[in-house]
Parts: sequence; C-alpha cells; structure tokens
Amino acid sequence: MPFYHQLGNIPPKRHTIFRKPNGDLYYEQLFGTIGFDGMSSNIYHEHRPTQVKEIRAQYSVAPKVAKANNMQSYRFRGFQVPPENDYLKSRKVVLTNSDCNIILAAPKHSTKDYFYKNTDADELIFIHKGTGKLRTFLGNLDFKYGDYLLVPRGVIYKLDFDTEDNRLFIVESYRPIYTPKRYRNWFGQLLEHSPFCERDIRRPQELETYDEKGEFLIKVKKQDDIFDMVYATHPFDVVGYDGFNYPYAFSIHDFEPITGRIHQPPPVHQTFETDAFVVCSFVPRLYDYHPQSIPAPYNHSNIDSDEVLYYVDGDFMSRNDIEAGHISLHPAGIPHGPHPGAVERSIGQTETEELAVMVDTFKPLKVTEEALKIADDTYFRSWLE
Ligand SMILES: [Fe+2]
Repeated sequence: MPFYHQLGNIPPKRHTIFRKPNGDLYYEQLFGTIGFDGMSSNIYHEHRPTQVKEIRAQYSVAPKVAKANNMQSYRFRGFQVPPENDYLKSRKVVLTNSDCNIILAAPKHSTKDYFYKNTDADELIFIHKGTGKLRTFLGNLDFKYGDYLLVPRGVIYKLDFDTEDNRLFIVESYRPIYTPKRYRNWFGQLLEHSPFCERDIRRPQELETYDEKGEFLIKVKKQDDIFDMVYATHPFDVVGYDGFNYPYAFSIHDFEPITGRIHQPPPVHQTFETDAFVVCSFVPRLYDYHPQSIPAPYNHSNIDSDEVLYYVDGDFMSRNDIEAGHISLHPAGIPHGPHPGAVERSIGQTETEELAVMVDTFKPLKVTEEALKIADDTYFRSWLE
C-alpha cells in the first residue's frame, strides 16, 4: 500500500542494534518487492525467519484447462461450487491466464493446522459471504461481507471464519495489485476525485507474536506447486515492523460511485489496477440524470480484453436471469451488451442497488474444467431475439 504504516516495536534507526529484554538480538528482515525497487517493510522477528526443518511434500495445484482458446460467452453459477472443509482445497480456479487466476471458494473451516504463503502472486480476496479474521505475520484484519482483502505476495497467513457458510471470489495476480495511479498524486496520496481515500483503507492493527519452537507447517505456493515446508519456529513471531508492504482491507461499500448526466464508462468504477488487468466495483448509485438518458450500457466491443463480472447482490439491470454468485464471461474479440428488453426497462429508472465486481484482463482467459462444471452452455445465445 503506498502509505507508511508502523505496528509493534521497532528500533529508532533501521539496521541498528535492537535487543530483547534478555539482551539477545531481534532478527531483522527486509520484506520487499520488485527487487529493492518496490514497496517494502522492515520486520523484526523473535527468531531467524530462515529455519527450514523439512520439505515434506511438493504437489501441483495447476488449474486444469478445458478450453485454452475461448470465443464463447459464458455464465457460471458460482454458488454451485461445492463447499469444502479445507481452505486451499476449496479454491477452484475457474478462469486462468499467465497473469492471473480467477478463483471461487466456499471454505467451511478455518486454516487450523497450517499457515499459507503465496510466493509469486498477490491475492485479492473478496468476501461475498462470511465473517472472520485474516491473521497474518504482519497483523490481523477483521473481515465481513463486501470486504476486499489485499494480501501481498509473501505474506504468511491464515483465515479464521466465524461460521461454515463462506463464499469467496479471489483474484490471484502475478502482477502487483495497486490502487489506480490516476487517483494518486506524485507522493502517492489519494486525490480529491478518487472514489475512496486513505480513511477507507483498513491497515492491520493487531499483531500476534509467538515466541515458540517446534514444528510449524507452512504451505508455500510457487509456480502452481504447493511445498509443505516445516519451520522450526512459529511464523507469527514478529514484534514490530514499519514500511509500505502489508495486507489491508477495503470494503466495496466504501466505494463512492462517480455518476453523470449520461452513461459513465466502466473506468469510473475502477478500484484496483495492475499492468495485466483492472478490478472495478459496481455499487448502488443514482442513474444518469439527463432527461433523455439511457441508464443501461450500450453494446460495446471489448476487442482486446476479456470481461469477467461477478454478481454480488441486487438486480443487475443489463442482464436477464442473473443471480448472486453468478459470473459472466464476455471474451475479447466480439461485442456484448444489454440483454433484450434491458435498455427499454432501464429508461426512467433513477437508481440501482446492483453490487458486482468486474475483472477485465488484457490477455485472454482460459476456461477450466472446474468452470465447465458450473457453466451455462446456452448463455452465449441469450441475446437472440
Ligand atoms: Fe461489458
């Protein structure tokens, strides 16, 4: 996150002597991205963060691609993804390319007997159903319906859920995920025309510190493999850190919509950016107020980006027969637009309660076997009159 955060105890100057009450030294770690050029945090551990005891297993979790080259519009019924006890097993990649994985998950239980670390992807976890706590070695964040949790690559974490009824929409990104640059000034501060500001971004406030030795399993993801790595000390042994690289939460309900007299284009809904895709939030808002305006979108040719819409809540005005948890995929190369009747239906409407998350990727997405299990194979004909 491009603003400074400090939690726990740190010495007044970096890379200097920092002792425990018993006189021993704490162990410093620079937790950085993009070599030494990207965002980083300086972390102080009770123990060396390097004490690997054992690499117990290595196994692939690569998505199984069913359609590598896709030209068909799809609807996927996300809530048909079956709940699973284990968090990592519950994550089903439905769409994938070399920049990102788009994942649906319905985990029933918290990650109890292991920690998880994704080494080469930032994870954007959208909470559709469920409450609980994201616990990380850099502090904890409570979550609820509508939260985006941004977990930068390398953050060791667990997810604690309050109940078994959880639905997550996750984007796993090999490109760093930032807030849009056009909403930040040259210092990184969010500008007045930004649809959210620093006050809306929740930073970790509660640091769990364990000074424990033993056997601690971290499931480490690297290049589509999971490595079961056993460490000799508790991964949550940080006494303090400061810097710019840490997990944070942002609620979709805190996104302030930008509206106009006539239909506003999708970039006004943009919430996150990478150099490979954007993430937009469609939130309840007043419709266009020109007396002759058509609130429904026009047909559009996303000629060079695939469009994924994840429907969260409310009535999605431009679509017929869309329910919460559904995903629509409109592939690059062909135009798409409102369903028959949607334009007429929208005229005279003054507001919408729709809530949705959109991911537009600049490279085509491959459709996985998991996606075809929940696919509506007739959706591509749904514009026929
Ligand atoms: Fe679209």
